[in-house]
Amino acid sequence: MMSSRNISVVRTEIALGAEVPLIARARHVLHLNDMGGWTRAALSLYPHQWSWDSAFIAIGLAHLDIRRAAQELRTLFAHQWMTGKVPHIVFNPTAPPDSYYPGADHWACAASSPDAPPAPPYTSCLCQPPVHAIAALRIWEVAGHVGEKARAEATDFLREIYPRLFAWHRYLATFRDPERSGLVTIYHPWASGTDNSPRWDGALAAIEVGEMDAYPRLDLKHIDDPSERPASAEYDRYLWLVKLIKRAGCDERAIYRSHPFLVKDVLFSAILVAANEALLEIAEVVKASDEERELVERWAGRGRKGLEECWDEKLNLCLDYDLRADKPLRVRTVAGFAPLIAGQQRPEQLTALLGELDSVAFAGHPELRWPLPPSTSPKEMGFHARSYWRGPVWPVANWLLWWSLIRAGEAERAAQIRRASLDQIAEEGFAEYFEPFSGEPLGSGEQSWTAAVVLDWLADGVRSAEIRTA
Ligand code: DGY
Repeated sequence: MMSSRNISVVRTEIALGAEVPLIARARHVLHLNDMGGWTRAALSLYPHQWSWDSAFIAIGLAHLDIRRAAQELRTLFAHQWMTGKVPHIVFNPTAPPDSYYPGADHWACAASSPDAPPAPPYTSCLCQPPVHAIAALRIWEVAGHVGEKARAEATDFLREIYPRLFAWHRYLATFRDPERSGLVTIYHPWASGTDNSPRWDGALAAIEVGEMDAYPRLDLKHIDDPSERPASAEYDRYLWLVKLIKRAGCDERAIYRSHPFLVKDVLFSAILVAANEALLEIAEVVKASDEERELVERWAGRGRKGLEECWDEKLNLCLDYDLRADKPLRVRTVAGFAPLIAGQQRPEQLTALLGELDSVAFAGHPELRWPLPPSTSPKEMGFHARSYWRGPVWPVANWLLWWSLIRAGEAERAAQIRRASLDQIAEEGFAEYFEPFSGEPLGSGEQSWTAAVVLDWLADGVRSAEIRTA
């Protein structure tokens, strides 16, 4: 369990200055959503454990409690599939029955696939971007600042989690990239983590929805305005794709043969490249075999090459690729900054990406409340300022850009994103996402990963040990 030692805001304000109320509030959000060995993504809208949320949450928790941070990943990986897949949702058996749809009963993966965990807590059949190795390494790095005992424990944790991380990345490099292109194929927009982004509009438009039972939109119960969530035409397709995946017995090869939605996702693939770099560092710590290290290195190199092929010189962004239609999906979204996230981009590509980031198409738009990139460029037809990934600003996306800019040696540009993000959250709260022009908080409140990235940002200005003892 996360320590319940609550912070005295007054005391910490004196000790640490103006950032402290934010630290206290971030801790409170994580505490509120703490379920013991794992953290629900948000209070009511997301009562389960989501895969990439958990990885970001572990990064934030590392600044509060190293053991609890490690436990977050351990719990998630306890539900890894036999194939190595880390499921996108681990369903909380104690969540109220009408809190989330489609839940464990609808997915019923254990009944369809011998590779799924056979007993509850059950999981979905999808996966999400692999931030986990980055999180595991971050835990180990933070532990190094805490002291020798913490570092030794974190090293033991890396030894324990490494084989699972390796199996997860191998699954992505094989089952999810049979072409060995270096790019991961997703077969559902939910797997991208950016569900209703116009990135998927072209591929979804080609899908004909067949016979389906009526289904409840439980997600709409938890928010004020339905326009903040995906539209019903999108949900019909999401649920239809789930039906097809189940019909294929959640079998990767069968899905690959028959599925109407197969897309090479550049953001997912870029995160995998960065995660493979993190895995290489972990492999060094745990003294993994040369053979495994060579494989991980090969996956990272192949990923960079794949991203290079998706680079669009006119847009100065990377584009997803629709395998079914055999063409790129030309939409300007934050996912296009994939080469920055993968790291080690060419210098001229870095210049082009920074130019694009600061242009009116993204963070340089003159009407933005804070100079932070909207998830979809306001210049795009599919832009919608309030709708989920169609325009709102997402703190986790900004964390990825901040982290990548630091790795690219662009510390000053990274600091601007950090500052604007902290101002946004200090003023508007720990929302899931924000309207880019008014700054209005949208979606779910008290979102765990928003709190987690705030803690990691603050650790950059305030030492972790101080956050921990505050
Ligand atoms: C949801 O239910 O909105 C999730 O994004 C699916 O993972």
